[in-house]
Order: sequence, then structure tokens, then C-alpha cells
Amino acid sequence: MTFNSLLPFAPKSLLFAPLEGITDALYRTVIMKLYPEWARFSTDFLRVPTSGKYPRSKFIEHLGYDIYQNPDLFRKTAFQIITTEKAQTHPVLDALTELGVTHLDLNLGCPSRTVINHGGGSYLLTDLRALKNILITIRAHWSGPFTVKMRIGMSDDSLFDETLSLIEGEGVDAITLHARTRNQLYAGRADWNFIKRAVQQVKIPVIGNGDIWTSDDVTACLNETGCHSVMIGRGALKTPWMPRLMGPQGELEVRRTQLPIYYETLATHFQKAGNADLVVLKRLKSLSRYTLEDFPDGNLWKTKLLRSQSLAEFFEVLKKAIVTSEDQI
Ligand SMILES: Cc1cc2nc3c(=O)[nH]c(=O)nc-3n(C[C@H](O)[C@H](O)[C@H](O)COP(=O)(O)O)c2cc1C
Repeated sequence: MTFNSLLPFAPKSLLFAPLEGITDALYRTVIMKLYPEWARFSTDFLRVPTSGKYPRSKFIEHLGYDIYQNPDLFRKTAFQIITTEKAQTHPVLDALTELGVTHLDLNLGCPSRTVINHGGGSYLLTDLRALKNILITIRAHWSGPFTVKMRIGMSDDSLFDETLSLIEGEGVDAITLHARTRNQLYAGRADWNFIKRAVQQVKIPVIGNGDIWTSDDVTACLNETGCHSVMIGRGALKTPWMPRLMGPQGELEVRRTQLPIYYETLATHFQKAGNADLVVLKRLKSLSRYTLEDFPDGNLWKTKLLRSQSLAEFFEVLKKAIVTSEDQI
């Protein structure tokens, strides 16, 4: 299969998924510098306003000031929008072009009721007329790489094939498919058969997404579906150094080395951004849902991390978890 050369990353790339409330500018900046092996990051979604205009600073803030000022990081970042038929898409595209954004991504998967009620996100998988109008507007005013990030459908796959054809026909450069319906939210297992089906149906690259948790999953998803690349969300929160695992070193060995580096670097940057230690602690705790899962007694260590009262205690518990795991395995 040949892939579109417009796409700003090579086949078999690992892309860090947008995660609203987690992958804010500060988090992305730290991870991009710490693990440059990720081929691409994405902002989480920016809602295109129905009336009025955002100031230029709003777009830069969403992207991240440090990223905006660093050409290497800027080039690696897709800017994601959520829009509706009534929203002011054209002026937003002009603003993004003026800023020099190189990759636009349209969110067609957001399950939020508010977003759906406004006619955006996964709603557009049910209204192909509105979706078509939006795609036409975007393609008319955005000349750079343009991708969409979609789910299988709202409640089932009845419009899946038609949606794929529409997207391809309107000049989208690649499709990221989170292989669940909107109504599944994040429950159950993502069904990669739909990724395979999309790969077989369209000629543009398909990026597989959903339940890729390990390096073996990366390989399996690429091999089983034939997708161009993979995007990883919760698995990336569990293993932010995932691209490094594509080499010969064992997963747990890399995890032990990377965990302190990951949390210490984040803590330093969160502190430098002016956050009090207790706020930093809260943020680190919020990023520890998955990271110790593979250790023996991982849940126990996670509970201890969540109970720590200070940053010092957090890092002490982390150290003990790592040392104990070395003894046990
Ligand atoms: C907390 C959270 C926030 C998310 N925010 C976004 C978002 O802003 N834009 C988007 O396209 N997808 C968003 N997603 C969906 C993820 O990007 C991804 O498609 C989904 O989690 C499935 O991939 P995974 O199984 O690797 O996590 C979010 C998911 C979660 C769990």
C-alpha cells in the first residue's frame, strides 16, 4: 500500500493522543522534550466559537507558548478543533494559518453531551450533510495536512462506510479511528476489525487507535489491521516512553528507569510554572492511574502514592515501589 506523502510523519509512527484535561501545553512540552521519539502530539480540542472571534493569544495559549517558540516542537504538533455547521470555522482557520500551524485535526469523536447538543464531535457521525459542509469549508480554507479523528459511529456502524467515503472524497489526508462507538465511551475493548475495514475501504492512511497498551499491542495493531500508524492515549499515560520499547530492552526494565525521570521532570516543570507543591503533588497523583500497574502489588503501590501527603513522600513511595519490584522479579 502506498501512503500519502503529505502526511507529516512516516509509516509505523507512534502518535501521542489528545487527552483533554491531561495533555495541556505544559504536559506536552515536558513529554516532547523527554521522549522525542513520539512522532506527533496533538492539542486537545479547541471549540470553534459560534459568534465572535478568539484573540490570537488564545490559539498560542492552547498550543503552548514554549511549543510555539520552538520550531521542532511546533512542527510536531497537530492543532485539534471541534466545530459545528454554524460555528466560525473560516476565521479560525485563517488565524491558525497566520500562526504557522502545520497540521489541523478535526474532532469527530467527542462523546460529551454538551458538544453533541451543539452539533459537534461525534454528533457529526450522525449528520453527514452537516459533516460534508464542514469538510468543504475546511478544505477550501486550509491548505496544509488535514486529518480527522473519529469513532465507528454514534451507537452502531450503520453509517461507517458512508462516513469513510465522504471523508476521503472531501480531501482529508488521513483518518484516525478510535475503534469504538460514541455510546461505548471508553468501555469494553476497542474492535480493531473496524480499523482493518477502514484500511481496506479508503486509500488515505488510517491511524489505528483504541486499547493499545503495550509495545506488543503496537506491533499487533499495525500487523493485524495494516494501518499506517498508531495513536495511543491511556497507554501513553501508562507508558510515556512507549516508543523506546520498540527496541530490544524489556518493558519493566525501561519502566523502572523512566518512572523517576518522568515524575521528577514533570514536578520540576510544574514547580517552575509557579505551582505550589501541593498542586504539583495533586497533578502527579492524577498521572499515576496506570503507571505502576505492571509491578507486583501495583495497585497497593498506587494507593500509597495517592495517599502521600507531600512530594517527598510521593517520591519515597515511588522509589520503594521500584526497588521492591526489582527484588520480586
Ligand atoms: C481523559 C480523556 C480525554 C480525551 N480528550 C480527547 C480530546 O481532547 N480529543 C480527542 O480527539 N480525543 C480525546 N480523547 C480520546 C483519546 O484521544 C483516545 O481516542 C481514546 O482514549 C482511545 O485511545 P486509548 O485506548 O489509547 O486511550 C480523550 C480520552 C480521554 C480518556
